[in-house]
Amino acid sequence: FHVDLDPKETDRGAYPYYMLKEIDEQPAVLHRIQKTYFAEDGSLKIPADLLAAMQKADRLYIVGAGTSYHAGLVGKRLFEQLTQIPTEVVLASEFAYDNPILSDHPFFIFLTQSGETADSRQVLVRVNNEWQAPSLTITNAENSTLYREATYQLLLNAGPEIAVASTKAYTAQIAVEAVVAKALGMARHISTAKNFNLNHELSLAANAIQAIVDEKQTIKEIAHHNLAKTRNAFYIGRGVDYFVALEAALKLKEISYIHAEGFASGELKHGTIALIEDKTPVIAILTQERTASHTRSNIQEVKSRGAQVLTIVSENLAKPGDDIVIPTISELLLPLVSVVPAQLLAYYASLERGYNVDQPRNLAKSVTVE
Ligand code: G6P
Repeated sequence: FHVDLDPKETDRGAYPYYMLKEIDEQPAVLHRIQKTYFAEDGSLKIPADLLAAMQKADRLYIVGAGTSYHAGLVGKRLFEQLTQIPTEVVLASEFAYDNPILSDHPFFIFLTQSGETADSRQVLVRVNNEWQAPSLTITNAENSTLYREATYQLLLNAGPEIAVASTKAYTAQIAVEAVVAKALGMARHISTAKNFNLNHELSLAANAIQAIVDEKQTIKEIAHHNLAKTRNAFYIGRGVDYFVALEAALKLKEISYIHAEGFASGELKHGTIALIEDKTPVIAILTQERTASHTRSNIQEVKSRGAQVLTIVSENLAKPGDDIVIPTISELLLPLVSVVPAQLLAYYASLERGYNVDQPRNLAKSVTVE
């Protein structure tokens, strides 16, 4: 089958790698999502039949693999806050063979950049044949398998993502989840959804990402000093910061081959802290007011065991000595912004170590086997 690609979008131009180009494109991708899903009068352009089907749901199930699963974890927060519908996030490869006790009226949301991931498709086959439940695929690939086989479909419009390590598809997935959550919350008359000016917040997120990519030199230096030579690294955070920590660690593993783990800050002391040695990099993400001081305590715990701590912190929570300060926007959308320094850290760590950033060993862009 044939995919039309805009030659401008698949041209690497002056960029040494697609990954850097795709990181830089993220503000433009958010703007495109705004254009696609918001009408001139500020109303949301989500098909009425999709909203009607979702309104009947008593539970949402978000299905994904790899980076898309991580975008789903952030999505759980968005859906629960904005729609008040309980939401579960499941790993496609696990859920495909589990025996879940489904709710009475489940609605399935598939997140997949390629639309071809076999693990996710296996779940969709069960949804269609065994559970006969409605589904929505959110994908970057029109007419892909998961696009065609779901009941409803929405496009990410992120443009072709060529680097194996996913960046702009992750942020696009979170943005489109926010759009759907806002529309569904409005339909359900949920006040958090009504009061959430998503269009404006997405503009703020795009500006915040732009500010980070404009300052990428600082992040390059941090990667040089702290990550180029290390064998291990940890990302820590709480709540959505933890979900971003998982994605941040995956980026580092995928392209720099540094053994990295994302950890819930408070859980680290229950075992994994044993791995902290002198100079082990621990990168803490702090964007949520309610939990920042708790993560600060966890930073002290690892520091006293010799860790070299780096912080990615939103401006409103920043303290002297913090390393990467990101602009403050709505806490719900901060994962769109806090992930960007982590993408850049992984990119520069990979470059420093002399690897092919776009084509890491053992990985494929789209995995069509289970
Ligand atoms: C592969 C890619 C990952 C991606 C995952 C899910 O493993 O290497 O980057 O996150 O598949 O892909 P999907 O296309 O379903 O989002």
